[in-house]
Amino acid sequence: MDVRRDEHVTKKLYIETVGCQMNVLDSELVVASLRKQGYVLAADADEADVVLFNTCSVRQHAEDKVYSALGRLKDAKRSSPHKVIGVLGCMAQKDQQLVFQRAPYVDIVVGPGQLHQVPELIARAAAGAGPQLEVSLGRKDGSRAEIERSHESFDPLRDPQMRPTPYQAYVRIMIGCDKFCTYCIVPSVRGPEQSRPPSEILAEARQLASEGCREITLLGQTVNSYRRREGERTWRLSDLLESLHGVEGIERIKFVTNYPNDMTGDLLEAVRDLPKVARYLHVPAQSGSDEILRRMKRGYTVRDYLEMHAAIRAAVPDVAVTSDFIVGFCGETEADFEQTCALVRACRFKNSFIFKYSERPGTKGADLYPDDVPDEVKRRRNNDLLAIQNAISEADNQRFLGRQVEVLVEGPSKAGSKQDEQASLVQLVGRTPCDRIVVFDGNRRQAGRIVPVTIYDANAHTLFGAVVTQHVGPEVFSVQLQA
Ligand code: 5AD
Ligand code: SF4
Repeated sequence: MDVRRDEHVTKKLYIETVGCQMNVLDSELVVASLRKQGYVLAADADEADVVLFNTCSVRQHAEDKVYSALGRLKDAKRSSPHKVIGVLGCMAQKDQQLVFQRAPYVDIVVGPGQLHQVPELIARAAAGAGPQLEVSLGRKDGSRAEIERSHESFDPLRDPQMRPTPYQAYVRIMIGCDKFCTYCIVPSVRGPEQSRPPSEILAEARQLASEGCREITLLGQTVNSYRRREGERTWRLSDLLESLHGVEGIERIKFVTNYPNDMTGDLLEAVRDLPKVARYLHVPAQSGSDEILRRMKRGYTVRDYLEMHAAIRAAVPDVAVTSDFIVGFCGETEADFEQTCALVRACRFKNSFIFKYSERPGTKGADLYPDDVPDEVKRRRNNDLLAIQNAISEADNQRFLGRQVEVLVEGPSKAGSKQDEQASLVQLVGRTPCDRIVVFDGNRRQAGRIVPVTIYDANAHTLFGAVVTQHVGPEVFSVQLQA
């Protein structure tokens, strides 16, 4: 039986997503492909016919969360054996059969390069064909071309309802990673680095714009390594940005995540010269110690990173730079950690995402170096680095007091969504061109627009402001605060 063609049955789908933006996008696309077959979204796993987990493998904690969520479904599956349970994404690719061993009631296990098969695999499992496993080739399981082919970029349909807001969308420009940082599982689970054709990316951006989307965020594990040969021409990220800049309706373009060594001059010039490109660059440093960077195989020294950072500041002085750091990597001494603190102080990042090192079986790091920094030391270093970063974030946000910023309004804030539907003013949230979060009172109808906001308060994570109304009289031009 092919349940996909049975139009009389409305099936309910519940999906939970952990991990990065790439996973958020993958979930949107999986939902879109299932919705096309008549599925509707359910509010929770209990009432759903199909329960999917889109998983992450980057740290142990992310995996533990999924296995315990699966554990909680054991009884539900016993009482409703027709419920289809699926594990998708990076942990599916990494653990493969192990998922069925640890949770024998799981029906489908699908790697990130096989997501186009999800509807068919659900249909087969629902028809009683037993456990379904579809994963891509490992990095040593064939020629480069074979491995590349086994990781398919899955970008078929968009689903505005699955996006955080209707005005913002992710657009994948690359899949995979070839950098092989020693701590990182991504190159083995997401496969070789492959750039999508510019024509597909542009078509997707135009479609999104026609659906009302105002901001696109280009996604790649190393987004600035984008390179695609089309005929005589090689497209780089800067070329792509220039073309996307011409798409009518798109007002803002962001891109994540950047690899420090590929932060080239042409890209910085594009950020400087193209007004729709956000003044925001996420360029993870990971550590401020040369010895740790060497063990991580990041391919740069602290001096290289600082030079790259200075080049960013020189080219685009008003840009906000953010970073990721791993604390407690193998062999990290107190002196190494102090150097990381010094780097954070020197670069004054807008914010940093800080992670405790989590050993990933199958990586070079796990093979070569013992995970020898005790957890309480990792935790303390995490807290100490966060405190340094927060003080910087707060001080730099204070510099916005009294300034006017252009905010792309995302919609009601968390508090705003609880306010009375009829209220004329609600609390809204949006972002500046440098990706700072701004909270202010406004009208729901302002969602999706870019509005001028004057900032009157700030903490480490948020700017607080009031909409500026411009009254242009016969002679006077005044700016009035609405708060
Ligand atoms: N342990 C801890 N953090 C990790 N990251 C990647 N791999 C690991 C790991 N094994 C962090 C890096 C990366 C971010 C997405 O996750 O900082 O930039
Ligand atoms: Fe992982 Fe390094 Fe690739 Fe980023 S660049 S995905 S940290 S291997």
